[in-house]
Amino acid sequence: MSNTVHLKSDGVSLIIDTSAGTPVIIHWGRAVSDAQLDITSQLEPTPHCDFDEPQLIGIWRENARGFIGEPALRGSRLAREWSHKFDLRSTEVSGQKATFVSVDAEAELEVVAKFELTDQGVLKVSQSVTNLGLTEFNVEALTAFLPVPDYTKEVLDFHGRWMRERQPQRQPIHVGQWVREGREGRTGHDFTLIQFALAEGATYERGEAWGLSLAWSGNNRQLVERTAIGRTFMAANELLLPGEVVLASGETYQAPTVVAVYSAAGIDGASDRLHRMVRARATHPTNIRPRPITLNVWEAVYFDHNYDKLAELAEAAAKIGVERFVLDDGWFGARRDDRAGLGDWVVSADVWPEGLGKLVDKVKSEGMEFGLWFEGEMVNADSDLFRAHPDWILHSGGRIPPEFRTQLVLDLAHPGAYQHVFDQVDAILSSYDIAYIKWDHNRVLTEASHLGQAAVRKQVLAIYRMFDELKAAHPGLEIESCASGGGRIDLGMIEHADRFWTSDNNDALERQSINRYTSIVIPPELLGTHIGPTKAHSTGRTHSHTFRAITALWGHAGLEWDLTEASEDELALLKSWADYYKANRHLLHSGRTVRGDQTETESQTYGVVARDGSQAIYMYAALRPSEFSRPANIRLTGLDAEATYEVKLVEPAGAANAMQMLPPKWYSGVRLSGGLLASLGLRAPVLRPEQAILIEAKRIIE
Ligand code: GLA
Repeated sequence: MSNTVHLKSDGVSLIIDTSAGTPVIIHWGRAVSDAQLDITSQLEPTPHCDFDEPQLIGIWRENARGFIGEPALRGSRLAREWSHKFDLRSTEVSGQKATFVSVDAEAELEVVAKFELTDQGVLKVSQSVTNLGLTEFNVEALTAFLPVPDYTKEVLDFHGRWMRERQPQRQPIHVGQWVREGREGRTGHDFTLIQFALAEGATYERGEAWGLSLAWSGNNRQLVERTAIGRTFMAANELLLPGEVVLASGETYQAPTVVAVYSAAGIDGASDRLHRMVRARATHPTNIRPRPITLNVWEAVYFDHNYDKLAELAEAAAKIGVERFVLDDGWFGARRDDRAGLGDWVVSADVWPEGLGKLVDKVKSEGMEFGLWFEGEMVNADSDLFRAHPDWILHSGGRIPPEFRTQLVLDLAHPGAYQHVFDQVDAILSSYDIAYIKWDHNRVLTEASHLGQAAVRKQVLAIYRMFDELKAAHPGLEIESCASGGGRIDLGMIEHADRFWTSDNNDALERQSINRYTSIVIPPELLGTHIGPTKAHSTGRTHSHTFRAITALWGHAGLEWDLTEASEDELALLKSWADYYKANRHLLHSGRTVRGDQTETESQTYGVVARDGSQAIYMYAALRPSEFSRPANIRLTGLDAEATYEVKLVEPAGAANAMQMLPPKWYSGVRLSGGLLASLGLRAPVLRPEQAILIEAKRIIE
């Protein structure tokens, strides 16, 4: 058998050579021909003062092979066998998948690396280690490292906090490791979601980009590393706490999948591969049904639950075409504010003396589905659950962790705690016709131990299981993953949840960036985007109806606003907006997302182009006042360059506020080729800041 494995798909190649007795990734990037690789071309010289023979850095990066950096497997057995040498025992290639099994007979360990290049050109890497010995093996980390070319120049990743998730940061790649760690016990607002290494000058539209995303909802680490010898790597792993994974004889640790994406067509190209991969799943929500317009009552009523008010809200929502009505926090136990009740998932007799049935029936009679909020992993000290089982919380030593939003975390590895949550949620879902639950996670984990052993991993696996079991018990149930907004958005949770609450910040200006960057990895139809109140509760900024509505169109659209306060004009515009969303959601949720490169930092474009190039919708948003009296052209990217398009302004949510005597002439319609629209574009209107317009392009059949 040849020593070269070549996986190839959709313009991407992965070439792995095994002639050194261990898998060595020679190339991950642009597709190349199947011509046999001559590994001689990749053997390094031997500089003075160095190893006597050229070294090939295999995927396990062992010290034993002369690699002086972090090995892929860190761990030891009784303080020994910390250094390993894995000899390749078997290589199995089937279609676009390759599996390499290697063994260190002396250390009594087996490691497996699986590479799968999906039809969309996305590389999935999954690694495991099995203890073949009789004594325990302590795993500190099992990291997937992938080489990227020497000519990569910059790293782009994302940081954030509550209310300001996924802000980009871009900087040169220097020698050393640029590490992003998440230790919150959940994915975290600061989780980078993806980390890119970029060739010089790579942008949204062009250039080469390599990205890694860890498919995991717990502690995490991602890094870009330029070694002193000059080679550059990207890596990702589950960040394990001390003693968190100790393998008994015969046990295996399966590391979370690392999703790796290469694009020769800029960041938008990488984003599109990820979107297509996620959408190819049979369980993807839009493969089952269109995404219903959702009204969440949180910012309308907070904890102030009252049937009459909520019924009035439901009527107003139904009139504009809302399809799902979600009752948020405050319906259960002693939950009259955020200081009590978590853990007691029983309908509160104080606020709902007749149960939730009357409201559920009202919502259903208005033609909408009913959704309900839970935060099942949490408990307030002031709850019946905590009073009965104070030992069911994650804690270390005899200490109670510091409270956070007055709450503690249930230890779901405790069978009693897990069963309590499952049974109570199951009972509610069995009592009422509930199509949807919003599942929150409003605090970080501290000192997260189960019976003294670090237990973040167990907690993550438990919540995956909980979601899967609830869905199995209630077919058709959809789950929204929320964690104070966007604190639990990742490609691991995507297999268990159906929607992400993108951010608690419903300020449209903030959402312009939060949505834009979150959607690099997550397709927009999985990202909750709501029209918030006129004056944003998060920032106090006041935004026009039009700007809020246009911004909220680019995701799984909804509202979070007391509609009983909206004027007749506003309600009419909301109805028109909802109709537009419904008429276009298929395109918005299946097309290619394009961000394009805008010359001005004051404005941005974002759009979705139909897969067949027949039509597209774009948003042009003015974030700040333009530097120029006439702002830079709006370039519409992603269309068929050769085809002609009819392009015009559409105003389903009202007119943007502009500072111009006359609008651009193309507003009422113009014909241009896709090529010209992408390179030359359209003259931009002079919008006031924090305003946006929608532009439609439709291919003309000549
Ligand atoms: C979190 C969520 C909000 C809301 C509240 C309820 O902050 O992100 O959307 O559900 O909890 O307490």
